[in-house]
Amino acid sequence: MSENDLNASMLFHRVGGAETFDTLVRAFYRGVIDDPVIAPMYPSDDIEGAIWRLSHFLQQYFGGPTTYSDQRGHPRLRMRHQPFAINPHAKERWLVHMRAAVDSLDLAPMDESELWDYLDRAALSMVNTFES
Ligand code: HEM
Repeated sequence: MSENDLNASMLFHRVGGAETFDTLVRAFYRGVIDDPVIAPMYPSDDIEGAIWRLSHFLQQYFGGPTTYSDQRGHPRLRMRHQPFAINPHAKERWLVHMRAAVDSLDLAPMDESELWDYLDRAALSMVNTFES
């Protein structure tokens, strides 16, 4: 295990476990569902399901239980996002809501930057079109 993996595996516990990730993702989706650009991409009749999927993915990534992959298989996030046209503007809207959600947690600065660095980088990698 590299030092980075070890750090990542500790973040889940440091920030307060599953409860903190649920709080984060719920705050995020409260912003998303009112967003004119990205809300239409999301399943309006299954926001609870979407909350479950993102929260459990993030818990797993940061060293929590592997429930996400036990139930959903390998994340393959870029592939799973192919059905959605994610241009740089959509990515920015996603990050606006995630930034507000991260801020609402009031984490220790080191934890916050570790979490944010990953989310920011991952969002960039999800861009799959430059058409608007
Ligand atoms: C860049 C802008 C992004 C947009 C517009 C976007 C949009 C979406 C949409 C519309 C869904 C389907 C909702 C559902 O039914 O679960 C989804 C699912 C998901 N997204 Fe994103 N996403 C973005 C970035 C990210 C990033 C950065 C991550 C990870 C850090 C992520 C993780 C996930 C996960 C784990 C799922 C559920 C996959 C599954 O198990 O089916 N997304 N996303």
